[in-house]
Amino acid sequence: MDYKVTRLKPFGVLVEPDGKNNVQDLNIESLRELFRQEHLVLLRGFETFQDMEDFPNYCERWGEVSVWPFGKVLELIQQDDPKDHIFDHSYVPLHWDGMYRPQVPEYQIFHCAKAPLAGQGGRTTFTNTVLALKNASEEQKELWSKITVHYKRKMEFYDSKTVSPIIAKHPYRDFSVIRYNEPHFEENGELINPVDIEVQGVGSEEALKFHRDLKQTLCDPQNFYAHEWQTGDVVITDNFTLLHGREEFVSKSPRHIRRVQVLSDPPYDNPGLESYK
Ligand SMILES: [Fe+2]
Repeated sequence: MDYKVTRLKPFGVLVEPDGKNNVQDLNIESLRELFRQEHLVLLRGFETFQDMEDFPNYCERWGEVSVWPFGKVLELIQQDDPKDHIFDHSYVPLHWDGMYRPQVPEYQIFHCAKAPLAGQGGRTTFTNTVLALKNASEEQKELWSKITVHYKRKMEFYDSKTVSPIIAKHPYRDFSVIRYNEPHFEENGELINPVDIEVQGVGSEEALKFHRDLKQTLCDPQNFYAHEWQTGDVVITDNFTLLHGREEFVSKSPRHIRRVQVLSDPPYDNPGLESYK
């Protein structure tokens, strides 16, 4: 074994070199097994990628990379005049990747090119929705199973409408997961270009209660991991099982995360996509 594995709380694993290693030398199939079991794999302390293309080339070894209008790598870095919250320094509501796209990727692979300084914020947040369902009450699950949410979101790379029940089946495995894009509430601060949401299955007063209760469950320490970045971290996460978001960070922090999405084998067509431009 050329690495050591430590459990993260409440889910995920930390993989560190035992000696001096390059991340590209680790056996992908061993890591994929860890990914299947733990849903989040953090590779820390390894030599990473020298050239710009080394990162997407590494991701190709995990499977077919999802290609966007901008290419394979999303550069998550604060922009001067952002048109969307993704490129601001604000928080990002919980969601799953690909919900507004024709295919939903199974893997998200992140590389931290530059971490914010200590105390500047900007953790990427992950909820293990299998744990959330396990830890939820029967009453909660009964309510959630009646609810379907319609989402509308328009940004630089798409103009989409999509729909999903709160509780859905993992596309290829025998367990249920939660699918949810958290709506923005003013009490959470400012958010550029928030998603448009319509809840079906409960009345409007109950809907507000439902959002607050679900958010609380998703962010409960039993189900929730917030990743504080260190430069060079590589994080591989299970987009079919987890939801993710971001905590806000101090404006102009040196935060630069690169992200690639890798499709499942076979690729998974988005079952909820109603329109896409
Ligand atoms: Fe995302």
